[in-house]
Amino acid sequence: MSGPVLEVADLSVRYRTPVGPAYAVDGIGFNLMPRERMGLVGESGSGKSTTVLALMRMIRPPGEISAGHVRLEGRDVLALSEEDLRRTRFARMSLVPQGAMSSLNPVLPIGAQFADLFAAHDIDPDDGHVAGLLSRVGLPPAVAARFPHELSGGMKQRVCIALAIALTPAVILADEPTSALDVVVQKQVLATLGRVQQDIGAAIILIGHDMALMAHFVDRIGVMYAGRLVETGPVKTVFRSPTHPYTKLLIGALPSLTARRAFQGIPGVPPSLTERPPGCPFQTRCPIAEARCRIEAPAPRPVGSDHLVACHLVGPA
Ligand SMILES: Nc1ncnc2c1ncn2[C@@H]1O[C@H](COP(=O)(O)OP(=O)(O)OP(=O)(O)O)[C@@H](O)[C@H]1O
Ligand SMILES: [Mg+2]
Repeated sequence: MSGPVLEVADLSVRYRTPVGPAYAVDGIGFNLMPRERMGLVGESGSGKSTTVLALMRMIRPPGEISAGHVRLEGRDVLALSEEDLRRTRFARMSLVPQGAMSSLNPVLPIGAQFADLFAAHDIDPDDGHVAGLLSRVGLPPAVAARFPHELSGGMKQRVCIALAIALTPAVILADEPTSALDVVVQKQVLATLGRVQQDIGAAIILIGHDMALMAHFVDRIGVMYAGRLVETGPVKTVFRSPTHPYTKLLIGALPSLTARRAFQGIPGVPPSLTERPPGCPFQTRCPIAEARCRIEAPAPRPVGSDHLVACHLVGPA
């Protein structure tokens, strides 16, 4: 397939709260090409996890997908029946959820968790199948007989990756797959994720906070702010010439890309997702905001090759 493996348009997710709907994801769109590695970054609460949960149709009440389109290999994910959706998850698109290691069933040995996944997809694995999957993520076959609490954090994350690739999906969504691990293990686990993703020919969306790790892993990066994608582009372009004022502040706060650094805080607080004042969501923290920014919300516009920025004040007039 030469077109995108995943197409997302105008996707919005809102959570019902006592003070009204909170727009956690607010009209985002992007395409993911086969085998592409895309990163999603943005401060806590910007909507990264909500985005990937929505792609999997795993938003639970009080949340709901309120608008948008998601096409996976040309199929309309939001229109799939529950049964087709169940068959699609893991098989065509899988998620390593945030805090994945705590999502492993504590009372089942690892091998049984693979068996459950295969049974749910009518697959009858041969004896070596689980051992083969474990070996692909750098784990010995004996891990199949272990319970999650008998494994280190890094080993559990590797198990979660093995589950995510077990049915050779076309898209892997990995939500901070290494954040809970120490620095050395983070690098190793990410290298494993990258290797298996290439082996099975999947595309990946990686959510992360460590900018240096992200910069080395992904081809393209999307920057989220208050539920919007404010900048997307090739990772080298965005790091060399960040263009949205928010991206500039984020990347400007990094000492260098080789220094291991998570995002620095930037001054101010994000806007309320329930009040949603008119105009640009970044206006209250933006050093260059003008009158127009308080009235009109900027849509993403091209500012270079494959480089989109949602700001009235940058790029071509
Ligand atoms: N179940 C829920 N009910 C109400 N609001 C929610 C719920 N889950 C998430 N939110 C809100 O949606 C917004 C986006 O949250 P989300 O978890 O997607 O952010 P994130 O970018 O993944 O943050 P982090 O970097 O901390 O993981 C936040 O304002 C959050 O408070
Ligand atoms: Mg998250």
